Amino acid sequence: MADLSVEVAGIRFSNPILPAAGPPVRDGRAMVRCAEGGAGGLVSKTISTRAAEPPTPNIAEIPHGMVNTELWSELPPEQWLEHEYALARQTGLPLIVSLGYSPDEIAWLAPRVRPFADALELSTHYIGEDAGPMVAAIRAAKAAVDVPVFVKLSPLGREMVRAAEQAEAAGADGIVAINSFGPVLAIDPETRLPYLGGSDGYGWLSGPALKPLALRCVRDIARAVRVPIMGVGGVSHGIDAVEMLMAGASAVQVCTAAMLRGPGVFGKIAHELDAWLDEHGYATAAELRGLAMADQPAAWSAGKPVVSEAPCNGCDLCAVSCPYEAITVVDKLAVIDEQLCTRCGLCVTRCRRGAIEWVSAAP
Ligand SMILES: Cc1cc2nc3c(=O)[nH]c(=O)nc-3n(C[C@H](O)[C@H](O)[C@H](O)COP(=O)(O)O)c2cc1C
Repeated sequence: MADLSVEVAGIRFSNPILPAAGPPVRDGRAMVRCAEGGAGGLVSKTISTRAAEPPTPNIAEIPHGMVNTELWSELPPEQWLEHEYALARQTGLPLIVSLGYSPDEIAWLAPRVRPFADALELSTHYIGEDAGPMVAAIRAAKAAVDVPVFVKLSPLGREMVRAAEQAEAAGADGIVAINSFGPVLAIDPETRLPYLGGSDGYGWLSGPALKPLALRCVRDIARAVRVPIMGVGGVSHGIDAVEMLMAGASAVQVCTAAMLRGPGVFGKIAHELDAWLDEHGYATAAELRGLAMADQPAAWSAGKPVVSEAPCNGCDLCAVSCPYEAITVVDKLAVIDEQLCTRCGLCVTRCRRGAIEWVSAAP
């Protein structure tokens, strides 16, 4: 069994799988369920100085993800301060309190939530393209509290790396990347209407479809700043957490998978991460951090796909998908014509049996 504990901005989490701000942490009771489900720490739903009034309907499942037009918490800040945070604290897990949005709102909220918070997470989701309000919000939080302040970045708009650098320069102790992506549109062909109400039906994308974008953002940011990063976006299984840590994250957050599969998903992802670490000979989760941040070796890029006879059962998947007609199946074995093969690599990821490997060129 590997050591899953991680330290992020001086806070120790028993495992690196945390809920992200959203419905799975919508109140104190929900956060208790996340703790019971195996989360290594807690992040609370974003609150602001007044309760949100989102349009309805505001959440829809689509293939490979979810779209939503939820806003921040529909509970007033007073209820959080009087009841919800105290419940979450009873779990004994570190609690990161998510706040939004303007510098004035942060200045009002930060000192009030401080008695409950091991750290703050500032959402930048609705504060526009200009980095000025984000920087001012960080300064307001840092002036008000003595706990670490994380900044959560949205994937479009301001250029991510520049925003992360500006956040670090303003005193942020960590970056959370990424928030949901949008605006996007999902249409119900039966009703001929968008699934979501409000904003002309446009919403925000989350879940597995978001993971490649999240990985790109996390790795770009990890290469640019020294503060730790929490990776968010499409983490559903242990292997997603592995990738997120390798991209440079110190911990990960999960929202959509917890909505679809319930709060037990945190423990399941942690368990799968543990099994992967054991199988691959790693003693700790922390060792994975940044392993995929290096540049690609030239010999790897100059490599080619090679078929291993034993696992290949001639299923034809690679041959059907090869855009260059470079693969044929002969006697239940895939054969690659090196004259036709352009080394695009699709067959390597298409094979379900690991029978086609990308082999580096001789250095
Ligand atoms: C229904 C819903 C509500 C969300 N509410 C918040 C929120 O209040 N604050 C916030 O920072 N992010 C919010 N998010 C974004 C998530 O925290 C997360 O960044 C995003 O969904 C990507 O992670 P995932 O693919 O694991 O869902 C919400 C996401 C969803 C799907």
